[in-house]
Amino acid sequence: KRSLVLSAPGKVILHGEHAVVHGKVALATALDLRTFLRMTPRQDGKISLQLPNLGSQLSWEAAELRPLLAAFSVELPEAQPPSAEQVEKLKEFAGGDYGHEAVQSVAAAAFLYLYLSVASKYGVLPTVDILVWSELPTGAGLGSSAAYSVCLAGALLFGCGAISYPLQEGQETARWTKEELDVINRLAFRGEQVIHGNPSGVDNAVSTWGGALRYISGQISVLKSVPTLRILLTNTKVPRSTKILVAGVKAKLLEFPTIMEPMLATIDAISRECEGILEAMTKDPSQEHYSRLEDLVDINQHLLNGIGVGHALLDRVCQVTSSHGLHSKLTGAGGGGCAITLLRPGTAPSAVEDAIRDLTHCGFECWETVIGAPG
Ligand code: MEV
Repeated sequence: KRSLVLSAPGKVILHGEHAVVHGKVALATALDLRTFLRMTPRQDGKISLQLPNLGSQLSWEAAELRPLLAAFSVELPEAQPPSAEQVEKLKEFAGGDYGHEAVQSVAAAAFLYLYLSVASKYGVLPTVDILVWSELPTGAGLGSSAAYSVCLAGALLFGCGAISYPLQEGQETARWTKEELDVINRLAFRGEQVIHGNPSGVDNAVSTWGGALRYISGQISVLKSVPTLRILLTNTKVPRSTKILVAGVKAKLLEFPTIMEPMLATIDAISRECEGILEAMTKDPSQEHYSRLEDLVDINQHLLNGIGVGHALLDRVCQVTSSHGLHSKLTGAGGGGCAITLLRPGTAPSAVEDAIRDLTHCGFECWETVIGAPG
């Protein structure tokens, strides 16, 4: 039997990270770095999961998973979120030698949750080899877990016959229909919940749909007119946990509601203002718009520091790029991970090269990208 290969992109949040968890607007765009999945049917009654980026290789007998099915009977697409108990049980079951909280255990738990959900709904336990590899750094704020969840959701729904094989004779690549992508996105959100606890859903949405999105409380709208923005991405390589950072913001919000609520409302206003500027830019590409975008980047970076998701090395990125006339903010959960730096069409190549040289000198990894890749 033949293999299925599919892929999903990472993402960059322009504005609205963390605030989006509390019902505010986020603007996110797909990134031209992707995660790939290959699913190959196997005949020996086993299911295997290979994650070379995490150095992990796991396999289970279908007969071993069958008893778990009853505990994961999930009605898609309106599935209940995974309970903390289910997640703990799966991490223990999957973790094996890696240990309970290891990233390998969490990734395997997300796989098993999705696998068992789909299997219980469609009554099949597909015996398959699944290999997932990624161009995205893990846990750096670029949506690697969402791209992983989206790839798994697509492959498993296909493996259970819930969605069609989209490739027509003679085509090399294909996309699923809007309805199928919607089911994939909803299932991928469950994977994100296993991994992150209380995510907003913005990451899996942008990874599923691609392009640039406005996201608020589960409502997704595709931004129709987005200028091609050049962005410098810098990975500070400081590891951090989205789950812990999201929980930290919630704790502060509960402790200081009158202080935190206006800050989140201001981040919401920044996202909305940015959306208006991006739209205006597609009609009138004047440089003035860039100054306003840069101001918003600076303001939001300070607010993100204020709500407690900054890091000294993210500040370092801002200082270094600022010394070359460029503006940066953290992207994603913060606390380390990646920063984005806006590049104007008119930014002198030497300024970008100098900034990259200085950032690399600090031990960071940089690469230039454009926003708006396909899903
Ligand atoms: C993570 O990429 C973005 C956060 O807002 C979390 C979320 O939306 O789930 C920090």
